[in-house]
Amino acid sequence: MSVRSWSYPVLALLVLVSGGFAASTAQAEGNAAQGKLLGYTCLGCHGVDNYRNAYPNYSVPKLVGQHPEYLVIALNAYKSGERSHGTMHAQASSYSDQDMLDLSLYLAGEPVKSAAGAKPAVTPPAAVATCSACHGTDGVGIVNIYPTLAGQHADYIEQALNDYRAGRRRNAVMGAFAAALKPADIKAVALYFSQQKPALQTLARPTSRYSAAK
Ligand code: HEC
Ligand code: HEC
Repeated sequence: MSVRSWSYPVLALLVLVSGGFAASTAQAEGNAAQGKLLGYTCLGCHGVDNYRNAYPNYSVPKLVGQHPEYLVIALNAYKSGERSHGTMHAQASSYSDQDMLDLSLYLAGEPVKSAAGAKPAVTPPAAVATCSACHGTDGVGIVNIYPTLAGQHADYIEQALNDYRAGRRRNAVMGAFAAALKPADIKAVALYFSQQKPALQTLARPTSRYSAAK
């Protein structure tokens, strides 16, 4: 039993690590200015504070400060169907690897820096102990393929964890961790991470496609 239940997460981790390596070697060639041209439509949702997904109703995730390498992985997951979301599948499907990299660099901006060692502003719930190994004690992903959760919308975090549990979002590592959480733990860890600082943010939507780069 133990061999079987661990072999998948370990394999997935290796795949993620090698995927992350590819993304980070490619990063040097990413072009945020090109991403800005491509990314104008993205801001219709990601550039509006507290914009919400309808059916089910939850906040559109914050992208500013996220690791761009993770955003590339996320866009590929929508494209391949590992993450099922109609709009994001449609958005991601038309983009090449280069486009995804450019978009991610633009949308992420400057990644949130870990304030490791700083005392958490909120008392960590017990269930959060296992998460910190990858998502950091302050919610900043310890490597750039682990998403930063600090300041993310609590209802989006809850949605993501429930999606992993239900298999709507397929990832062997997170599937296993999410499955171990009780509904009350999910609420507690989501609230906790959403209150962490320094925090992810929403990109201000430019008033026109041609306004100066931020
Ligand atoms: C109609 C609204 C809408 C538009 C337009 C849109 N998004 Fe999204 N985006 C969403 C929602 C809602 C989610 C969360 C979906 C889910 O639950 O997986 C999301 C998720 C994402 C994620 C995953 C974030 C994470 O933390 O995992 C990335 C990356 C992303 N979008 C990038 C983009 C890019 C790039 C564009 C433009 C090419 C774009 N989005 C356009 C609504 C939108
Ligand atoms: C072994 C490392 C690891 C551990 C431990 C871990 N995670 Fe993750 N987490 C990841 C990776 C990798 C992803 C990205 C997976 C994907 O692409 O869907 C992720 C994704 C997430 C997401 C989705 C973020 C987004 O922007 O969509 C949430 C929420 C999350 N984890 C919460 C947790 C919680 C809560 C725990 C503890 C119970 C936890 N994680 C433990 C590695 C880990």
